[in-house]
Amino acid sequence: MEIIRTVSRLSEVAGQNRAAGRSIGLVPTMGALHAGHKSLVDRARSENDVVIVSVFVNPTQFNNAADLQTYPRTEEADAAMLESCGVDYVFMPSVEEIYPEPDTRVFDLGPVAEVMEGPMRPGHFNGVAQIVSKLFAWSQPTRAYFGEKDFQQIAVIRRMVELEGFDLEIVPCPIVREADGLALSSRNVRLTAADREVAPKIHYLLKQSIELKNQGLSPVEVEKATTAAIDDIDGLRTEYFQIVDAKTMQPIKEWAEAGELGAAGCATVYCGDVRLIDNIRY
Ligand code: PAJ
Repeated sequence: MEIIRTVSRLSEVAGQNRAAGRSIGLVPTMGALHAGHKSLVDRARSENDVVIVSVFVNPTQFNNAADLQTYPRTEEADAAMLESCGVDYVFMPSVEEIYPEPDTRVFDLGPVAEVMEGPMRPGHFNGVAQIVSKLFAWSQPTRAYFGEKDFQQIAVIRRMVELEGFDLEIVPCPIVREADGLALSSRNVRLTAADREVAPKIHYLLKQSIELKNQGLSPVEVEKATTAAIDDIDGLRTEYFQIVDAKTMQPIKEWAEAGELGAAGCATVYCGDVRLIDNIRY
């Protein structure tokens, strides 16, 4: 496994492998790797000749300075884990390497970025589009792997790919959870012991929301009941819980409005000071 620190080396190995006719699987991450990331890497390994994983805490997607500062960084452990997964190249650049000049590009992300995380984290998705578009241009992937935990992020990246005309396949991968249901996240290490105890209730109540749907409640009624149930739990506070069309990310008022991919319930919940996101499909 080669650790790459420069954009020029990344472009070089990508170009050489593409010229040799090899498929490239790219897994973009911000490090502090866990079994959720590993599932993406394993999938990429099984479907491509060459696997590139990027590990870069991208400052332009953080709309909160404290969150950027306290974001966990575990470079050595990450490299060891990726080596054991049979990864070919790890791209671990400095901030200066990625942004020698400020990136002033503003992407026209449209309706998929105007709901949920969009208004809650101004600039976040534009920052994601900035870094992912750079990674796509440099590593020329055949396929790129993203987790459904960040459900809206996938829709945003699809939109960016359409805008920029990248010729690649976006591969969505299922959410990996702890045995008690908590979705794996690099931010989980920030949970206190007490917070960690209540955090799995988020997934439990999202699953319960499927029952509410089956009992005949409308999306709006399910949103209200589920938000109240989450807020009822000591230590949890819902920022939003929204039921949307799983493709367009637009809120639905009736189940029948959902298109070919069905509906998804997307939640952001504060557990103590930690902002957790999760979702469920109906
Ligand atoms: P990060 O939060 O490190 O996540 C990297 C990838 O791992 C994302 O596609 C995310 O959805 C996926 N992932 C995280 N937890 C997961 C879980 N429990 N199950 C399945 N997949 C999971 O998302 C980002 O980084 C950044 O925004 C990035 C795309 C790298 C751009 O900077």
